[in-house]
Amino acid sequence: MSFNQDVNDRLEKLAVKYKASGQELVDFLDGLLYADYLTYWDYTHLDTLLSLQTPRTSIKDEPIFIMYHQITELYFKLSLHELEQIAEEKEFTAQWLLNKVERINRYFDALTHSFGVMEKGMDREQFLKFRMALIPASGFQSAQYRRIEMAATNFIELVDKEYKEEFRSRETSLEEMFDNIYWKNGAIVEKTQEKTLTLRQFELKYKDELMRWAKRMTEANLWNKYLQISEDERIESGLKNAMRNLDLNVNVNWPLQHYRTAVAYLAMRPSDKAATGGTNWQKYLPPRFQKRIFYPSLWTDAEHEEWGKAWVESVLNELKKK
Ligand code: HEM
Repeated sequence: MSFNQDVNDRLEKLAVKYKASGQELVDFLDGLLYADYLTYWDYTHLDTLLSLQTPRTSIKDEPIFIMYHQITELYFKLSLHELEQIAEEKEFTAQWLLNKVERINRYFDALTHSFGVMEKGMDREQFLKFRMALIPASGFQSAQYRRIEMAATNFIELVDKEYKEEFRSRETSLEEMFDNIYWKNGAIVEKTQEKTLTLRQFELKYKDELMRWAKRMTEANLWNKYLQISEDERIESGLKNAMRNLDLNVNVNWPLQHYRTAVAYLAMRPSDKAATGGTNWQKYLPPRFQKRIFYPSLWTDAEHEEWGKAWVESVLNELKKK
């Protein structure tokens, strides 16, 4: 059998490639001869993926809760995949950075718009039962969510709003900022002011790793990369707008949708349901209370003032009517 020029070209290129690394082309051709065809199920590790749902009860809607958390974690992983590349890149154009930021925006948009799977997609009575078998686990313990925040902005923006301005005015170590990070407020037992078990377990597993991540992101976070682009280019390319959208997506749109879901399941007048993490979630979760803003200088004073307000107020009004 003789081969056409195209095949011969490829064989020659392959021979050069393998020779350069001290390998023999013929051995690799043997490998091709004996290798099985790749299948969809092997490539996607489908059997493993579909075996990762292990409910703690036999209540029918619990698998929905597990799978949607897993889907969310995969979207978080997609976002981190982009943030990692941004962190590693030293020289880039506004367009390159814009493409990356738009990808993350698309992921968060998909998450926000699919949250109805949680909000409306489980039977409330079933949820209120199976959640009791999950104590003290909570989405609060999602380390990927925290890594996204640390890769998106300077650490100071994640400090609790009570201390942020004071810390800004002086030299502050990463450790001190970490000890006063906003999310600790979501995991303190109100009566005793002690850390909840949810938080203690989370810190035990992730604190060191998160500190290493935070150190790495000090210079390499998205905000610092954004500052490398000139103001004209930021505006012309649409990058500035995309950064504002990212801020809204991560700090308002997704948290509001999440909060709305917590309200749907846990808010029941006259006495609200306690969260499985043991926190005062009504005070903690709404973005207007947290006022988490990655990029404060991209917003006007009025926009700061209004952060996350309108929507939450509408939810609270709905609640008052119940
Ligand atoms: C019925 C569905 C859900 C309810 C009722 C709910 C409820 C809550 C509550 C009450 C908290 C406050 C912390 C605590 O006390 O546990 C919380 C935090 C959190 N949950 Fe959920 N959640 C739901 C779904 C999800 C999903 C699908 C995810 C995806 C990973 C998620 C991720 C988070 C995160 C990241 C936090 C921390 C938020 C922050 O620190 O601002 N939750 N959730």
